[in-house]
Amino acid sequence: MTDTNSYGNPVTATLSGIADLFRKKERIGTLADNERLDGKTCLITGANSGLGKAAAIELAKRGARVIMACRSGIPAAGEDVRQASGSERVEMLHVDLSDLSSVRGCVEYLDQHGITLDRVILNAGIVPNKDVATAQGFELMFGVHFVANMALVQGLLETGLVANSAFAAQGKAARDERPRIVFVASEAHRSGTPIDLESFGDYVEYNAMASMAQYGHSKRALLSYVAELTERLHGQVDVHALCPGPVDSNIARGAPGWVKPVLGFVMGKLFRSPAEASEPVLFLACAHAIEGETGIYLHLMTRKPIHEQATDPAVRRAVWAKGQEFIRRD
Ligand SMILES: NC(=O)c1ccc[n+]([C@@H]2O[C@H](COP(=O)([O-])OP(=O)(O)OC[C@H]3O[C@@H](n4cnc5c(N)ncnc54)[C@H](OP(=O)(O)O)[C@@H]3O)[C@@H](O)[C@H]2O)c1
Repeated sequence: MTDTNSYGNPVTATLSGIADLFRKKERIGTLADNERLDGKTCLITGANSGLGKAAAIELAKRGARVIMACRSGIPAAGEDVRQASGSERVEMLHVDLSDLSSVRGCVEYLDQHGITLDRVILNAGIVPNKDVATAQGFELMFGVHFVANMALVQGLLETGLVANSAFAAQGKAARDERPRIVFVASEAHRSGTPIDLESFGDYVEYNAMASMAQYGHSKRALLSYVAELTERLHGQVDVHALCPGPVDSNIARGAPGWVKPVLGFVMGKLFRSPAEASEPVLFLACAHAIEGETGIYLHLMTRKPIHEQATDPAVRRAVWAKGQEFIRRD
């Protein structure tokens, strides 16, 4: 797949996202109402808002115990999800993905409480209008989308909170079917700044117009990690990723003030609601049809290959190795 610049800046990204909604593509399938998660435990990040909140409601409706790992909205968002789903099996756990000590604290909490996770959904995301540093000095989108997700997933795998014997010191087999890890990425990964292994992880400065290139870069790094993780898990845990298409969420909260009214209007009229847009998240988390399959990437509900640079074996191994250094930073 060749690079396009269609998601290269906030204006073209908005237009491309809308155009994608009208293209007819082959669907992977449709999730039936009886595909439930009774008895299963799901952790979902960024579940106090937008896509994550909508997905949390549906997961709870489908019988799962839902742990909403969030940095804000505690406890109000959990109460909203409880009310909207009619389920009492909804909890909130604090995590700030811009600080690796908070990510480690989240893993420790789950470990201390012996919580085995059947589904992990890495949904949290952000688009600031200028560069900001995380607690460990990474550019914020790179730090949240790539480094923190890697740190969280690795913590869950090493502790065996997600059952596996590839990473866990005392390897555990999954209870019945294989656990699933689902990453919310973006088609913007195709037009993001390419991965340069020399400068990978270096802090970058940008303004609002250039934010999409760094957003796409951070999602490309994430998907490169996802490709490598899929291989290293040897099918013990199923790993999937997706782009939900344009969502009428709070993602543009960092947009400059003068853009917000126009963007808010466009998003409200033309973007999909979080509930509609959560379809691929829920399909990858719940569908029986993909049981035993790993490494699916969906754009909306259509299978696609991840960008070729992200899946290049030499690149993904190097991204993995650099990521191992990054997640250990204090
Ligand atoms: N909206 C779109 O058009 C679109 C398109 C493609 C992909 N996506 C992806 O979809 C995912 C969900 O985004 P959304 O559209 O639902 O946006 P949203 O409404 O802004 O939700 C993003 C969530 O991520 C959380 N988050 C951000 N930074 C965090 C941090 N440091 N620690 C913990 N949580 C953090 C937010 O928490 P706070 O509320 O505390 O900030 C919020 O809960 C993201 O990964 C995004 O990249 C969105």
